[in-house]
Amino acid sequence: MKSPTELAADQAAYWNGPGGQGWLASYARLERSLLDIGKTVLALAAAKSGERVIDIGCGNGGTTEALAQAVGPTGHVLGVDISEILVGAARARRVPNATFVVGDAAAHPFEAASYDLVFSRFGVMFFGDPVVAFRNLQQALKPTGRLAFVCWRTTQENPWGLVPVRAAAPFLPPLPKPGPEDPGQYAFGDPARVERILKESGFGAIAIEPLDVPIWMGADAAEVVANAGRFGPLARAFADATPDQIEKAKAAIATVLKPHESAAGVVLPGACWLVAAKASAG
Ligand SMILES: C[S@@+](CC[C@H](N)C(=O)[O-])C[C@H]1O[C@@H](n2cnc3c(N)ncnc32)[C@H](O)[C@@H]1O
Repeated sequence: MKSPTELAADQAAYWNGPGGQGWLASYARLERSLLDIGKTVLALAAAKSGERVIDIGCGNGGTTEALAQAVGPTGHVLGVDISEILVGAARARRVPNATFVVGDAAAHPFEAASYDLVFSRFGVMFFGDPVVAFRNLQQALKPTGRLAFVCWRTTQENPWGLVPVRAAAPFLPPLPKPGPEDPGQYAFGDPARVERILKESGFGAIAIEPLDVPIWMGADAAEVVANAGRFGPLARAFADATPDQIEKAKAAIATVLKPHESAAGVVLPGACWLVAAKASAG
């Protein structure tokens, strides 16, 4: 079993390598898939004029820019991401009231008790030791501060992710099976675990609500297949597979997605948790 430090190092290597490259290369398509979820979590966060905000795992800064607009010129947003490639892309947005830093949010020396809001869209499931990480975030918040993030529910509740992986798996080297406490895309699927992590980190008034949302995967099955394996579980499996295995896996994905083609594209159900909490347990 890997230690939290080793797990964190794996994540840093992934997001500074194929994960970050794949996210950036797919961003236009991802943004289409995640736009509605982003709007919902931004509404939950309700950033206000003049507030100081941290965007955790900000990627290439799409949500940071939206938060910066919400807080206006008297406010400020700090985007933190472990991926140099993605922070480089975020800085290129030249958002006047936002700063971007490359760093591990679990250990970044945030100014203590000085932020109104810690926000994240799918950027908080990758910590080697989530309690240590959320404690660090909790300490950055003012006593009146708040937390708002969105994360995926379980693999089984997310057919947009599961259906292609299940179809491809028989043709690929064995896919890694993450343990229940390991970081990753679906690491916060269990709401009891999320609640425990936040309580142990000092947060209070924890609210975890389901958000069911259709996920646009591509214009048609061929387009989804052309982009398959850029990130997520398939990226890791494709990295170890032969060209013949990848070709067979892609053909299987095309077959399984074909019946889901519609005028709106290939759309499958997705399931998230919308999580809100207060900095203070009292
Ligand atoms: C699924 S992407 C989401 C990106 C962005 N929030 C968005 O919605 O477009 C996850 C992001 O978390 C970042 N990340 C992973 N572990 C991190 C850590 N320990 N500290 C800061 N960022 C991290 C990754 O580099 C990646 O950009």
